[in-house]
Amino acid sequence: MRILIVGAGYVGLCTGVMLSESHDVTLIEIDERKVRRINSGISPIYEKGIEHLLQERVEQENLKAQLPNAEVGPVDMVLICVGTPASSDGSVNLDQVSSAVDFILSRVDELIREHMIIVMKSTVPPGTTRKYVKNRVKHTEFQDKIGVVFNPEFLREGSALEDAKNPDRTVIGCSNSDEFERVKAMYTPVLAEDSQVFIQTNLESAELCKYVSNSFLATKISFANEMANIAEKIPGADIDEVMKCVGLDNRISPKFFRAGAGYGGSCFPKDTAGLRSLANTLDVDTPIIDAANEVNSERPEKLVRMLRSELDLLSGKDIAVLGLAFKPGTDDTRYSPAIKVIDILVEHGAYVRVHDPLSSKIQEKINLPKEVQITDNLEETMREVNGAILVTDWPIYEDLGLERIVESMKNRVFVDGRRVFANSEIPRGVRYITVGTGCSE
Ligand code: UDX
Repeated sequence: MRILIVGAGYVGLCTGVMLSESHDVTLIEIDERKVRRINSGISPIYEKGIEHLLQERVEQENLKAQLPNAEVGPVDMVLICVGTPASSDGSVNLDQVSSAVDFILSRVDELIREHMIIVMKSTVPPGTTRKYVKNRVKHTEFQDKIGVVFNPEFLREGSALEDAKNPDRTVIGCSNSDEFERVKAMYTPVLAEDSQVFIQTNLESAELCKYVSNSFLATKISFANEMANIAEKIPGADIDEVMKCVGLDNRISPKFFRAGAGYGGSCFPKDTAGLRSLANTLDVDTPIIDAANEVNSERPEKLVRMLRSELDLLSGKDIAVLGLAFKPGTDDTRYSPAIKVIDILVEHGAYVRVHDPLSSKIQEKINLPKEVQITDNLEETMREVNGAILVTDWPIYEDLGLERIVESMKNRVFVDGRRVFANSEIPRGVRYITVGTGCSE
């Protein structure tokens, strides 16, 4: 098949790399620098395994990127993979979706061969695909030649290529079996053999499923964090032990049940806010989603409070923060709990040194307060500091071990926000505090 993907961000690029194994994929991207990097086989995003595959697919000429004004030619599928950021009031900003549809409809003469399907992959509120795509296609002379579906992605940053190839299910919201079969035929040759699970449903149910999926995963995490708060008050209780026992119930599952610093990233905060905003416009209250976000928003303050309970004053103190990305395996700091921890420490007058293995990539994208230094040199971060907070569980920390990490600290107070060392031998002279262990606060 010939496939056009509008938007070469995380979803568009990872989906394009995956589909180009069997199809001819063209990425449309407005950022000229990104277009040049992709066509040179250099990934604009940090994602495990993408560099090698991207180079291979570009060399095989199965994948290329171009600016919107370049010639495309006829295609079978057009995937919309543009951003749908949260507006300040939590509602979903659909400007990029609108522009993508404008682009497609302005070029439809060129794009149409016998038949074409527009596949919305961006996370959009229920009703959007029908209103912004299907109803607009109806007003063209090609309405009988263009199908419109909603097909959510469930990619996690850091494992996006693996998730793209091995989805638990492929949801196809559509209006008829022909649309379903055509989209299924696009995925069948590229998905892993044991990932050939396709669900046909209607547009609105598929759109809502994406929000519900992310909101439930966020709720699971906040539930684990709330249970960790209880466990901390019970001598001997250990939240990992508790959630392991609970998760063995096959109705619950142990996944996304790790207590820690809370969730960040470009999706959970945005999608829980988006679902809440949608529900409110429908005059439906969302106390569970609200509670999940409330519990999550308290995690950074809790970690700083744990440190203050040992150091008392933070003003004028040198404090190390380990990890800046919202999770290991990515250079993405959007809604990262570490950003909030740093802001609170600076508010208390501390001098903050941040370590992250991808600090050089991260520094290109964000501005930190002047009191904050960022480095990928862990020894430099830890030298002579008065205390430390681990916020992102990069493998390097567990690989090095707590003894090595703390050896150059002036004052060995270590708050472990991700329970990396919760079951390790704590070196003598280290005041180790973590979430979810009885009497840890
Ligand atoms: C998420 C969804 O998992 C994915 O299906 C969707 O398509 C996009 O949003 P992502 O945000 O990239 O993916 O990463 P994820 O691995 O889900 O982690 C999100 C956040 O939750 C991270 O900050 C992580 O540290 C945190 N988390 C995750 C926990 O605190 N505890 C857990 O048990 C799991």
